[in-house]
Amino acid sequence: MTTMRFDDLRQYSDVLRSRHGQAVTVRFVEPRDAEALQNYFRALSTRSRYNRFLGAASELPPSELDRFIQVGEADRFSVVATMPVDGRETIVGEARYAFDSESAAIEFGLSIDDRWQGHGIGRALLKNLECRAAAFGAERIFGDTLRSNDAMIALARKSGYGFTNTPGDWRLTRFQKDIHVEPQEIPCASWRLAAVSPRAMSSLAV
Ligand SMILES: CC(C)(COP(=O)(O)OP(=O)(O)OC[C@H]1O[C@@H](n2cnc3c(N)ncnc32)[C@H](O)[C@@H]1OP(=O)(O)O)[C@@H](O)C(=O)NCCC(=O)NCCS
Repeated sequence: MTTMRFDDLRQYSDVLRSRHGQAVTVRFVEPRDAEALQNYFRALSTRSRYNRFLGAASELPPSELDRFIQVGEADRFSVVATMPVDGRETIVGEARYAFDSESAAIEFGLSIDDRWQGHGIGRALLKNLECRAAAFGAERIFGDTLRSNDAMIALARKSGYGFTNTPGDWRLTRFQKDIHVEPQEIPCASWRLAAVSPRAMSSLAV
C-alpha cells in the first residue's frame, strides 16, 4: 500500500465523545495540519513529550514531521483528534499507527494535550484505534511505553491490555491486546463499513 488519496480519506473521520459528552473529531492528518501539529507537540508538557517520544525532544524533527503527514505511506497512518476551542478547530490529541501485514499487528503511539488529559479522550481514541486495527484485519494491537508512564499503563490496563517486556529495551513495557472482532461487529460505524465493503477498503490504497 502506498500514499492514500485525501479525497477518499475525509470520509474516515469519526466523532468520539469525551467523558462529559463533548464531541471530538478524529481524522487523518492532512498536509495543511503540519504547522498546527508541530505547535501541538511544542505545547505539550516536557513530561508528556518525553512519554510520547520515549525520550527528550522539544518538537518533531522536520523529517519526522514530513513522515507524520504522509498518511498511508509504508502502511503508517497519523490521525488528529480535534475539538472546537474558542470557535477554532484545535488539535487536542494525535495518534500514529503502523500495520505490519506479516505479523497482522498494529503498533501505535498516542498523546492528548495536557489541558485535555483526564477527560476520557485517550480512552475513546484508543477504542477508535482498535476499530481501525480490526478494519485492517489485524489480529493484535500493541504499543510500547516507559515503565514510569503510570497514566498510559493504567489506561491500557483498564482497556483490557496485557503486558510483556519490550524486546531490546528494558526501559519500556509492551501493552498488547488480541483483536477478535468480526468485520460486521466493529463498534465504529465508518470502520465497520470499510471492513465489510471491499470497495471502500481498496479506496484506501492507490
Ligand atoms: C496516557 C494518555 C494518552 C491518557 O489520555 P487521557 O485522555 O488523559 O486518559 P483518559 O482521560 O481517557 O483516562 C482513561 C484512564 O486512564 C487512566 N489514567 C489517565 N490519566 C492517568 C493518570 N495521570 N494517572 C493514573 N491513571 C491515569 C485512568 O485509569 C483513566 O480511567 P478513569 O478516568 O476511569 O480513572 C495521556 O496521559 C497522554 O497523552 N500522556 C502523554 C503522552 C503519552 O504518555 N503517551 C503514551 C505513549 S504510547
